[in-house]
Amino acid sequence: MAFITPAKEQPGLIQAMTSRGWVEYMKKIILSVAITLGVSSLAMAEAEPSAERIKQLTGTCSACHGATGQSVVPNYPNLAGQGTRYLATQISDIRDGNRSVPEMTAFVSNLSDSEIQGIAAYYAKQTPKTSATDPKFVALGEKLYRGGDLERGIAACSACHSFSGKGNAPAGFPTLSGQHPQYIIKQLTDYREGDRTNGGEAQIMQTIAAKLSTKEIEALGHYVSGLN
Ligand code: HEC
Ligand code: HEC
Repeated sequence: MAFITPAKEQPGLIQAMTSRGWVEYMKKIILSVAITLGVSSLAMAEAEPSAERIKQLTGTCSACHGATGQSVVPNYPNLAGQGTRYLATQISDIRDGNRSVPEMTAFVSNLSDSEIQGIAAYYAKQTPKTSATDPKFVALGEKLYRGGDLERGIAACSACHSFSGKGNAPAGFPTLSGQHPQYIIKQLTDYREGDRTNGGEAQIMQTIAAKLSTKEIEALGHYVSGLN
């Protein structure tokens, strides 16, 4: 049996194809295909994630970073009040494997760029943590933080992170005040040892940390934590 019968043997079909009903039917098919394509290309252009979606996503971070970005564990950084630009850069770098945080990989590997922006904006709006400096670290910490060390070519930290330790959010210079000293000490050590090397911005800190002694890193970690 042939699947395609010559049209001349099917006068009814010719009539149907040229009839108004058929034309309307084809229009509907074309329209529905166009809608489907339109919707999927919108989805590919990453529609803004809803506030509900961001809340759901940050819920997965809270076990380590706290519900509002204030963490209780010293090696998990506080995120509350940190600048949006800095947060978004770090989350993308961790997702893309440029900054290695193995504990976090599973939680960020599927995030889209717009979800990362939404998460960063969420934490930037939360109330930052405050802390006090152990007095024994103030003298050395303050000297380096405010004045650097001209002879050794160490730039004053305050030039970028500000006197109050609040950083410079639009420039992407992170807030240090209120952060856990243990976390800061680990980061300065990681920059120094070449374990935190994610791109151009990290290069600034690698150069600076390379000149710091372990004792200076310890003093700075405690000093910046208590700034406000
Ligand atoms: C299992 C624990 C854990 C979970 C869950 C987790 N993180 Fe982290 N996160 C860490 C640790 C540990 C670090 C610091 C690693 C280091 O020492 O460099 C970190 C670092 C970060 C940093 C860098 C902060 C800074 O000051 O540079 C950001 C931003 C961040 N996490 C965001 C998130 C977000 C967003 C989520 C959820 C999608 C998340 N984390 C889930 C453990 C976790
Ligand atoms: C020229 C500007 C500049 C100066 C000076 C500077 N920093 Fe930074 N700092 C940055 C930038 C930019 C970053 C983010 C780098 C990245 O993406 O890893 C950063 C990151 C950091 C971090 C990591 C914060 C986090 O949440 O993980 C610490 C800690 C830090 N700086 C401490 C210091 C200290 C201490 C000094 C002085 C000895 C100093 N910085 C001097 C620009 C600067």
